[in-house]
Amino acid sequence: MIADKDGIRFATPEPVAEYRAKRLKCKVIADISCGIGGQALHFAKYCDFVYAIEIDTKKIAFAKKNAKIMGVDNIEFIAGNSLSPEIIEKLPELDVVFSDPARPPSEKKRSIDNLRPSIPEVMKAYSDISSNFAFEAPPQLSPESIPFDCEREYMSLEGKLNRLNLYFGELKKADISAVALPGINIIRKTGVYDTASGNEEPARYAYEPEECVTKAGLLGQLAAELKNEADDISVFEIDKKRTLLSSDSMIKNSLFKNRYKRLLISEPDFSLINSYLKKNSFGKVIVRAAIEPEKYWDVRNELESCLVGERKAHLFVKNDKAILFEVLDD
Ligand SMILES: C[S@@+](CC[C@H](N)C(=O)[O-])C[C@H]1O[C@@H](n2cnc3c(N)ncnc32)[C@H](O)[C@@H]1O
Repeated sequence: MIADKDGIRFATPEPVAEYRAKRLKCKVIADISCGIGGQALHFAKYCDFVYAIEIDTKKIAFAKKNAKIMGVDNIEFIAGNSLSPEIIEKLPELDVVFSDPARPPSEKKRSIDNLRPSIPEVMKAYSDISSNFAFEAPPQLSPESIPFDCEREYMSLEGKLNRLNLYFGELKKADISAVALPGINIIRKTGVYDTASGNEEPARYAYEPEECVTKAGLLGQLAAELKNEADDISVFEIDKKRTLLSSDSMIKNSLFKNRYKRLLISEPDFSLINSYLKKNSFGKVIVRAAIEPEKYWDVRNELESCLVGERKAHLFVKNDKAILFEVLDD
């Protein structure tokens, strides 16, 4: 792909573009804010025909070049404002309208209202030629802050929350869902589950979910779905930012990012933790607690003082308890 700096920055990562293209596979699709074509080129692989519209003439020139380089000939590129009636008039009936809209780069707190083109405007402008819409929205937004009747699909890529997709019309398969890429592991909301244990300490094993599952609010449901494999499994909240599942049974699931074995629960006393780690051949300790970023390495250096072993521990802090885990091998 060729592009300017801005175009590359906002281009859709390949595994995301590929997943979305498969999910939105249809005869005729329009990508109405196509940028340099990161997503549109993948639509062209799965759909018969793609209309790709972009307001920035430099970006659409790159998108055309990218299509040429890749030998793609089933995209019609249209330069202009995708909300303008003159452009919409030229389009046939569309099976799907997709938009990955622009968002203000300097925005401090993401808002669904600041997307350009805006979701309500797109739906209104295209209502005569389509009833199936898909949008990308900022993944920082909670499901409750999306004021539309649509599926909210949170997506993780390589273990990090990466995208939020909104699906309308026949594209909607659930109210909320989560998908972890690149393996394509999906969970869809089927009901309301609260399996929080309220326990102060984790059981023998702990499971760190993919961020998309937590952001989608589907951790309770994941726990409920795993009950037949681990009947004691429950949600173990460590702090506002970190929530695990915990059980005395050792299980595997594709929506787990990490699986841990509990090592030690103690006072958060650095010398006590350090001597445990020394005695048990640990060399590193990843600190997973709410510490100010500028203090992180001071804390870690103190905990790792004189450690020479090969093993790596993960340290969480719940209330006033330090909890040490080690990642389980697959
Ligand atoms: C996040 S980028 C899209 C990136 C693209 N999905 C990709 O993978 O390369 C958003 C694009 O929307 C375009 N845009 C914003 N408002 C538009 C409008 N009214 N009509 C057409 N394009 C618009 C911007 O110029 C920008 O290139």
